[in-house]
Amino acid sequence: MSEIVINIKNSEITYPIEIKNEPVSDLYNKIINVINGENYLVVISEKVEKLYGKELNFPKSNKFILKDGEKEKNFNNYQKIINKALELKLTRKSSIITVGGGVCGDLSGFVASTYMRGINFIQVPTTLLACVDSSVGGKTAIDTNFGKNMVGTFYQPKCVFINPNFLKTLDERQFKSGLGEVVKYSFIEKSCRCDVEYNLMNFLSEKFNEINQRDEKTLAKLIEICVNLKKSVVEKDEKEADLRRILNFGHTYGHAVEKINNYKKYTHGEAVVEGMRFAFNLALKLNKIDKNYKFFAEDVIKKFNFPILPQYKSEKMIDIMKSDKKAEKNCINFVLPTDYSVVDIFEITENILTD
Ligand code: GLY
Repeated sequence: MSEIVINIKNSEITYPIEIKNEPVSDLYNKIINVINGENYLVVISEKVEKLYGKELNFPKSNKFILKDGEKEKNFNNYQKIINKALELKLTRKSSIITVGGGVCGDLSGFVASTYMRGINFIQVPTTLLACVDSSVGGKTAIDTNFGKNMVGTFYQPKCVFINPNFLKTLDERQFKSGLGEVVKYSFIEKSCRCDVEYNLMNFLSEKFNEINQRDEKTLAKLIEICVNLKKSVVEKDEKEADLRRILNFGHTYGHAVEKINNYKKYTHGEAVVEGMRFAFNLALKLNKIDKNYKFFAEDVIKKFNFPILPQYKSEKMIDIMKSDKKAEKNCINFVLPTDYSVVDIFEITENILTD
């Protein structure tokens, strides 16, 4: 087992992230212990409920079962969960517990942060993507017709319980989606300014088979590395004023890919990988990197067999990217590679993208 403590310096918030391979049924007592006899609502993904509902043992009356898929991260479900919390008479001492992937966590985190101006929030991520990214660092969100994550808060959980056992039943495409974010960390590692040098790129190549076979110990170690890299970033910049923006490597273009396909056709990870390919090409065009690094990066991506997505009309993509909440004036902010595992943020004007 490993416990990583997140310590957000500016807001003096501290919380533990536990990574432990244990029977899923052990989570119930752990959570009951944390909520200390107070009332609670569990927001659980439909898939996870089907597979683990019995083992998790939460009473039906305390559960809100959320359908899976990005399109569920909407105002309508926000309202329904709020109503359920009101029906259960949750108070400011109560907790919202999320058991599921990023959609479930982002949405229920937003509920927890706004219900009575904020109640306790406990995360149990069950997808690789949620384990390595969305359950760490306190971003909550819902999507609107204008784009992904357009409404949300920064709201840190009280604790996070990561159990890699959940990943055994994750479908291959969702597992790969999480690997997209993992590969992202390998390209930004040095810029995360972490005290420990993990060399995630080497880890990925040495443990390639174990990762694909979902070896529990390897996955626990992989998650631990990614969480520590993210910890290093969010502790320094909780609200994404500066350093945290590097976590968006591959996301500016990736979010546009998701949007242009109505969040249906490609997973988040597939879109982010495409965004990273785009970023490597753009960085080469702007002489930020040399050809060797671009080819090396393409090989890393190829090894994991991520799908190659179609080329989209650049005008349409630029329009979408300009409406991204990170865009400013007439520029689009891109995180681009500048060296092995190093990235930086650049303001890119439209003409560079269309040239
Ligand atoms: N997923 C990027 C972040 O948490 O900042």
